[in-house]
Amino acid sequence: MDTILTLHDLVRWLILLFGFLTVITAILGLASKSPYSKLADKSNLLFMILFDIQVVFGFILFFEKGWFDHLKHIGDFMKDSLVRFFSLEHWLLMLIAWILVHAGRTAVKKAPDAQSKHRKMLVYFGIALLLILIAIPWPFREAVARPWFRWF
Ligand code: HEM
Repeated sequence: MDTILTLHDLVRWLILLFGFLTVITAILGLASKSPYSKLADKSNLLFMILFDIQVVFGFILFFEKGWFDHLKHIGDFMKDSLVRFFSLEHWLLMLIAWILVHAGRTAVKKAPDAQSKHRKMLVYFGIALLLILIAIPWPFREAVARPWFRWF
């Protein structure tokens, strides 16, 4: 489980990298009215693939480290912010972001022209990135704090 936790920790940075790249390419594309580039397509594709991998690591941790078991005693853990965060809030927000990323990829593909592709990219991936940033257990979030970085 330590290896999966480290991988889950590290993949976070790749997701953030491609998430920001996707949003920045969308903003630049909209501002300069440029064509939908290969960079834009590859960055949101990698954002989605890395997110898929992260969801698998996340649910392995969720079931194997006992967070799921807390859901059976829902009344007790609502007062404990650490347990509430990892048993409920973290994965629920991440799952909504994951759905948005998949819906966004489809919406971008279907959009008729470059401007609407960039607009859809900005809206779907931008909201997803915001949810991810909110749901990460950053070291400065006292009750749920986790390190900036783990290594094997
Ligand atoms: C539905 C998807 C996800 C599930 C089910 C999930 C589940 C979990 C669980 C159960 C833990 C606690 C592990 C432990 O017991 O120590 C955890 C930690 C964490 N998760 Fe997720 N996660 C998901 C998505 C994500 C995403 C998309 C990111 C970031 C992009 C992320 C970032 C983190 C970080 C940074 C930690 C702390 C790792 C550490 O302690 O070093 N998770 N996640």
